[in-house]
Amino acid sequence: MAAAAIGGAWGCGNDPGSALHPAGRDADQIATLFWAMTAVGGVVWLVFIGLATYAMLSERRTSRRAAVVFIVGGGVGLPTLVLAALVWGGLSMLPGLLHLGRDDAPIAVGSEQWWWRVRYATPDGIAFETANELRVPVGRRTAIALTSPDVVHSLWVPAWAGKVDAIPGRTTHLAVEPTRAGTFRGVCAEYCGNAHAQMVFDAVAMEGDAYDAWIEHQAADARAPATEAERAGRAVFEAAGCGGCHVVRGTGANGVLGPDLTHVGSRLHVAGVVDNDEAGFARWLAAPRHDKPDVHMPAFASLAAADLAALATYLESLQ
Ligand code: CUA
Repeated sequence: MAAAAIGGAWGCGNDPGSALHPAGRDADQIATLFWAMTAVGGVVWLVFIGLATYAMLSERRTSRRAAVVFIVGGGVGLPTLVLAALVWGGLSMLPGLLHLGRDDAPIAVGSEQWWWRVRYATPDGIAFETANELRVPVGRRTAIALTSPDVVHSLWVPAWAGKVDAIPGRTTHLAVEPTRAGTFRGVCAEYCGNAHAQMVFDAVAMEGDAYDAWIEHQAADARAPATEAERAGRAVFEAAGCGGCHVVRGTGANGVLGPDLTHVGSRLHVAGVVDNDEAGFARWLAAPRHDKPDVHMPAFASLAAADLAALATYLESLQ
């Protein structure tokens, strides 16, 4: 109740990126711990301010013995008990938060400057890669294996769980367990260069059937161009050498430096930050650094306007 009231007052009641509005089992526990610590700290603060005010205003003299009992009890005994209880409460949550579940096919997330490479491999042998979008089923504990090829990043979906660093040369792990379907905000929580603040992604919790259908769709090869404009865009894609950095499964494009574009049109955002429509693709292609400073993707501003539009049409068609 208090959480909802204060969360509402802060304007984060429906914020998909708020740790105070949890939608996952781990975030729920972390929020409970946060409110318990806030409440206990608040009570201690109020009592202290009350006593300090009383001491300043009161004329009454206290005996030496009462003063010693008060200082030792209130200054040593009480803080020891209160802090020990809070530490115990926090530590006792750790095994649950660190538990990875029995997931034998964790999602592998590679954090790169400045985007998220997300690899799925199901026990039935389905494997594919997507980017800047992390989709997991509701009500199931999903393990995530985190790596980084460049600098330290940190994966954080505040509504689902705590954050875990991605460290070059190591694999770190976390688990998420969304409790309701919805789209939430994921961020990089460790400064990693100029586009750190734009290293965001959509974290989507889906009901089982929808999730299975999504997996099946993503695992399929890219849709072939169906219209004249899409075919023209595909020709621009090939002529401009996009396949040197990007994969489009089912075509000759097999570069692995940048995001897999096989189903890029079906994602919620382009590069995590731009609206996913033809205008969004055109904007991103012409000046990617406008939306992500220093991004490694080159600008294609030199393309003729018609070519740029056709390329955007083709990419948007990759549903
Ligand atoms: Cu990646 Cu900050």
